[in-house]
Amino acid sequence: MDETRPLVSPEEAVRERYSRAATQREAALCCPVSYDPKLLEAIPAEVLERDYGCGDPTRYAREGETVLDLGSGTGKACFLASQIVGPTGRVIGVDMNDEMLAVARRAAPEVARRIGFGNVEFRKARIQDLRPVVPDGSVDLVVSNCVLNLVQPEAKKALFAEIHRVLRRGGRAVISDIVSDRDVPEPLMADPELWSGCISGAFREDAFVQAFEEAGFYGTTLLERQAKPWRVVEGIAFRSVTVVAYKGKEGACLDRGSPQPVDAAPATEEGTTCGPGSSSCC
Ligand SMILES: C[S@@+](CC[C@H](N)C(=O)[O-])C[C@H]1O[C@@H](n2cnc3c(N)ncnc32)[C@H](O)[C@@H]1O
Repeated sequence: MDETRPLVSPEEAVRERYSRAATQREAALCCPVSYDPKLLEAIPAEVLERDYGCGDPTRYAREGETVLDLGSGTGKACFLASQIVGPTGRVIGVDMNDEMLAVARRAAPEVARRIGFGNVEFRKARIQDLRPVVPDGSVDLVVSNCVLNLVQPEAKKALFAEIHRVLRRGGRAVISDIVSDRDVPEPLMADPELWSGCISGAFREDAFVQAFEEAGFYGTTLLERQAKPWRVVEGIAFRSVTVVAYKGKEGACLDRGSPQPVDAAPATEEGTTCGPGSSSCC
């Protein structure tokens, strides 16, 4: 850690770093990801150059869905999702950073012109407090690409609760983020550079999955996991994963006697099975 650096809070460090990264590409924040090249054609260079993602959760979107992207940055994931959900779907990007929002909002009319329809909008908020900008149960799919790790530890529980709140029953979250193979020690947590660089705030891999379950999600499944770590810092391996988690009905799951689909279906406490596509359960 550089002791001559002025003390700033992790949130200020994130704001400052991503304000700079919105105007000038920062290579250290990039994690190589392959996207569908056909979908990239519609996206202006200014957006593509300032891509700070670590996965592609948008490939799990479906036609007609309402998608919410948390920490949308310059808007790349939103513009990819926009083309997948098509003119009957819509996409909302949320970010707290004015410079990032400015790039994304500038690009939106150009993307709409190139694809022939406009279904993307960008709203300003902190993703751990979406209430002012996203109503309850209004979203089919929440995506996020390399952002959850940037939220303060004390706000992470609220963040998962917000993801759960905005999803409709049967909706899902597909999140790409950086995780670690061990707990990140205090000195690394206190380093604003490592914090804003998607290192210090990384979840331990198992704790990431557990955070969804604690927020009331079910069927949490690892969809993708980088075999080779993105970075190793002080012996701790940091890699990108993509996870899906489903929102079901609140309260007990009562089996009413109808057959239950069992694909990727975890057993509930009551002994019934819940899974994607379940009808009378969850
Ligand atoms: C690593 S970049 C990822 C941007 C984008 N998802 C991508 O794939 O290029 C992190 C983004 O999350 C935003 N961000 C970080 N913490 C946030 C928070 N608590 N609320 C809203 N936005 C946040 C930053 O402003 C920045 O645009």
